[in-house]
Amino acid sequence: MKIAIIGAGNLGLAIARGIINNNSASSLFITKRNISTIREMETTPKVHLSTDNTEAVKNSDIIIFAIQPRHLESVLVQCKEFITENHTLISVVTGYSTKKIEEVLGEEHHIIRAMPNTAISIGQSMTCICSNIQGKVRIQVALNIFNQLGHSIEIPEEQMQAATVVCASGIAFWMRLIRATTQGAIQLGFESKEALEMSVHTCLGAANLLIQGNSHPEQEIDKVTTPGGCTIAGLNEMEHQGLSSSIIKGLLASYNKISQIAKK
Ligand SMILES: NC(=O)c1ccc[n+]([C@@H]2O[C@H](COP(=O)([O-])OP(=O)(O)OC[C@H]3O[C@@H](n4cnc5c(N)ncnc54)[C@H](OP(=O)(O)O)[C@@H]3O)[C@@H](O)[C@H]2O)c1
Repeated sequence: MKIAIIGAGNLGLAIARGIINNNSASSLFITKRNISTIREMETTPKVHLSTDNTEAVKNSDIIIFAIQPRHLESVLVQCKEFITENHTLISVVTGYSTKKIEEVLGEEHHIIRAMPNTAISIGQSMTCICSNIQGKVRIQVALNIFNQLGHSIEIPEEQMQAATVVCASGIAFWMRLIRATTQGAIQLGFESKEALEMSVHTCLGAANLLIQGNSHPEQEIDKVTTPGGCTIAGLNEMEHQGLSSSIIKGLLASYNKISQIAKK
């Protein structure tokens, strides 16, 4: 696979590192306007640094656009004459629909959108992927790339905003839950460093019980809630205080906000 990453910023570089670490490209073109900030990558085998997006497009099969939304249209226009139907185009640009990309390039192209989260920097992103009609046949190409950088699923494009809330904003929501359990642990007498360690690893274990055990949260809760015991007392008090309800309302508030922003 000959891959190009147009825009080597936070996300573009994280994707590049995942591709390099997994040795999944036969060549990897990485572009940005000022390549002096990524000079250290110059000696990496198979990697080509360039300021010329068209050179990257001409020499690659898969083009990943990782630039800011305000730059995408001009970059697409710049690359248009070199983009063919053999290319798989993957955009990680937030809020930029496949339809808008089609309007610049034409609907005959294989266009895929991906929404990763910040855990992509450590290869553990939850990434949601959708495509235009032509792109359907290449969706597996994108899933393969993002599965090397965490876990990925295909969703309908209409759900991309909701997925942004659940998975991208979701990082912040989970951080708050971890912080809250840390604060509780400190009140119970643990040092803050210890409290955070306990909270984070309990969270990781809980997630892995679901992933590796292929189970449901309530099944795991049943295993730790002795009738009349301390866990159910704590859990019910949290629910009396509105734990589940406040999280659901928070997700809906984020979704309403992202929908308003998208309409502007
Ligand atoms: N960060 C995340 O976790 C995340 C998650 C989901 C989606 N996204 C989306 O991904 C995109 C990139 O985000 P980011 O955080 O990586 O942004 P960023 O750090 O600002 O990176 C954008 C990069 O694009 C380069 N660039 C700008 N104009 C260019 C051009 N004409 N040709 C080639 N490169 C160009 C910039 O470098 P130069 O100035 O040197 O050209 C910069 O390194 C955004 O649309 C964002 O909404 C980000």
